[in-house]
Amino acid sequence: MSTHIGAAPGEIAPVVLLPGDPLRAKWIADTFLTDARCYSQVRGMFGFTGTWRGNRVSVQGSGMGQPSAAIYVNELFRDYDVETIVRVGSCGALTETVGVRDVVLASGACTDSSMNTHRFGGYDYAPVADFGLLRRAHDAASAMPDVTTHVGLVFSSDSFYSPRPELTQRMAEHRVLAVEMEASALYTLAAAHDRRALAVCTVSDHIVTGEETTSAEREQSFPAMVEIALGAALD
Ligand code: HPA
Repeated sequence: MSTHIGAAPGEIAPVVLLPGDPLRAKWIADTFLTDARCYSQVRGMFGFTGTWRGNRVSVQGSGMGQPSAAIYVNELFRDYDVETIVRVGSCGALTETVGVRDVVLASGACTDSSMNTHRFGGYDYAPVADFGLLRRAHDAASAMPDVTTHVGLVFSSDSFYSPRPELTQRMAEHRVLAVEMEASALYTLAAAHDRRALAVCTVSDHIVTGEETTSAEREQSFPAMVEIALGAALD
C-alpha cells in the first residue's frame, strides 16, 4: 500500500474518478460499477475498483482542497501507475451565463494556492486539462439533451469561505466561469507525471445570484456528470 491508500499493487485501475467526498465514491461505485470492490478505507477515504461497460475503473475520494487532493493524486500516479484521473465534483458559478445544475468542463485552472508558487519559485504556471479527455467529455455532454455544458477556466481556491471576495470577482472579470478547490493541483500533478487529467464539475451554487441547489437536485445532476466523466475516460 502507499502512505494514504490501502491498495495492493494492481488493485487500482488505470482510470480513476476522483470525487472529493468519500461517500460519493461509494455511491458512484454502487450506482455505476459492476463487481465493485473496496480497496481502501484509510482515514475513511474510500476507494473502489469495478468495471463500467467492460472496462476496469476505480473511484477514489480525495477530500476537499488541493493539499488533500494532491496526496491522493500523487500516490495514484506515483505508486499505482494510474494513467487518467477525472475529478467529479461541485463548483460555484461566477458568471450569470452559467446556471446552477449546469456542468463546467475545466479547460484550465487559476489558483490562489501557494502550492504552485512554491513549485515554480514564484513564477506563474498555467495548469490545463488533457485535450483528448476534454474533447471526449464535451462530446459526451453534448449528446445529453438535458445538460447545459460550459468549457472554460475555473478558480481553484484554497478557501471555501473566501477572505478576499474581490479576488473572486477579479477572476470572474477575466472569464473564469466557476470556483472549486482541486483542479489546479490535479492538472499540475498530471503534467509533472506525464499523465492525463480533467475536472468535470456541476454547479451547486451561484456566487453572483446566491441561488443554491437542494441536496435532492444535486443528487439528480450528479449522475450526468459521472456519465460524462466515464464517457470521456473510457469510451
Ligand atoms: N467555493 C469553492 N468550491 C465550491 C464552491 C464554492 O463556492 N461551491 C461548490 N464548490
